[in-house]
Amino acid sequence: MPPAAVTKGNDKGMIYMRVTVGVFFGGRSVEHEVSVISAIQAVNAFDKSKYDVVPVYCAKDDHLYAGTDIGKIEAYKDIPALLSRSQRVICAPLEKGRLALVKYPPKLLGGAVYASIDLAFPIVHGANVEDGTIQGFFNYMSVPFVGCDVTASAVSMDKYVTKAVLRFNDIPVLDCVRLSAKPFYSGEDEAVRRVENAFSYPMIVKPVNLGSSIGIKKAYSAVELVGAFEYAFQFAGTVIVERAVENLRELNCAVLGYGDSAEASECEEPISGDAILSYSDKYMSGGKSKGMSASKRKLPADLPPETRAKVRELAVRTFTALGCCGVSRIDMLMDAASGEIWVNEINPIPGSLSFYLWEPLGVSYARLIDKLIELSFTRERENAEFASSFDTNILENFSGGMKGPKQR
Ligand SMILES: Nc1ncnc2c1ncn2[C@@H]1O[C@H](COP(=O)(O)OP(=O)(O)O)[C@@H](O)[C@H]1O
Ligand SMILES: [Mg+2]
Repeated sequence: MPPAAVTKGNDKGMIYMRVTVGVFFGGRSVEHEVSVISAIQAVNAFDKSKYDVVPVYCAKDDHLYAGTDIGKIEAYKDIPALLSRSQRVICAPLEKGRLALVKYPPKLLGGAVYASIDLAFPIVHGANVEDGTIQGFFNYMSVPFVGCDVTASAVSMDKYVTKAVLRFNDIPVLDCVRLSAKPFYSGEDEAVRRVENAFSYPMIVKPVNLGSSIGIKKAYSAVELVGAFEYAFQFAGTVIVERAVENLRELNCAVLGYGDSAEASECEEPISGDAILSYSDKYMSGGKSKGMSASKRKLPADLPPETRAKVRELAVRTFTALGCCGVSRIDMLMDAASGEIWVNEINPIPGSLSFYLWEPLGVSYARLIDKLIELSFTRERENAEFASSFDTNILENFSGGMKGPKQR
């Protein structure tokens, strides 16, 4: 069972069991650097009277590192130097629910275990990590973790599959055409014809599974469409095309919860300097790389109460339809002339964990982290009630041969 730690304590004299939280960040993703910023912001925001925090950096070659400087943002100016003075670790499951960070290569002196953690907190963005990969790793290691499970992460990180699930739940999304690199390069004209039959210009081409506006272009003509495909295929093997929404306003709202109990944050309107909200609009505003919390926005978004209520309701329905857990941010597109709103995408682990969308509702970053940890232990307790093995071992009486296993 997971430690009852966080749920057990209160202010009336009961004792808190301290929880050791491993914050995993980085990873083999084009959003690696954004994740470093998001994670170190979070590490600084933890209430250290309740938690021991162990930052774990997932380098681009998949090696994991811990150490005194791994949680310090200034150390990432020179990553090779940082890694040379840090401790490489590998993960090993201990008794159920705990994970050892074992020193690697093995040390003869000073103990083998760098730290053992009660809870993994992935703060990663993008393909190969946020898409169910790191969640599957924690699942396999039997350590509880914060945020969406494998399925919700994988579905949420694929823009095409997300649309399919949302449409199934009567949530408005834009139509799209999905195309892979191989058929495109073996028949560009046919691909362009197919898309032109579906939509009129301008159109948006985007990699199916990335974030942070990477690989996205707007196309006003067939020539630009081909260019946009070629650009997007540099980042992903599959892309989607949509019509570009006119009179565009973008509205984002985060949701916090699990199962049927989920609540919406304040709504923001990110402000772009261009037709597409770019990577630099999101992370580099003012010349500083402070992560999503530094991007230009109106917060709260300037909306009539009924539109704000609609955005928040759509956000919660999206979160629930996708089976999310923890905090996710739902991004919407609005045609300001018609007032129509479509859910554009969901970020299962949003930049800066969307802490800035909760502060206007009186939820501090430290409290948001508390809630995320409580939710993950709640899920872990619920999952522990399901059997994961049968007591009967059919292999005990198995005498070999090919027939046995086929008779199920
Ligand atoms: N259908 C669309 N119409 C108009 N602008 C769009 C459309 N889709 C995306 N954009 C613009 O491109 C940006 C990035 O697209 P998005 O789907 O959010 O991808 P990412 O996962 O990279 O954030 C959006 O924030 C918006 O500015
Ligand atoms: Mg987006």
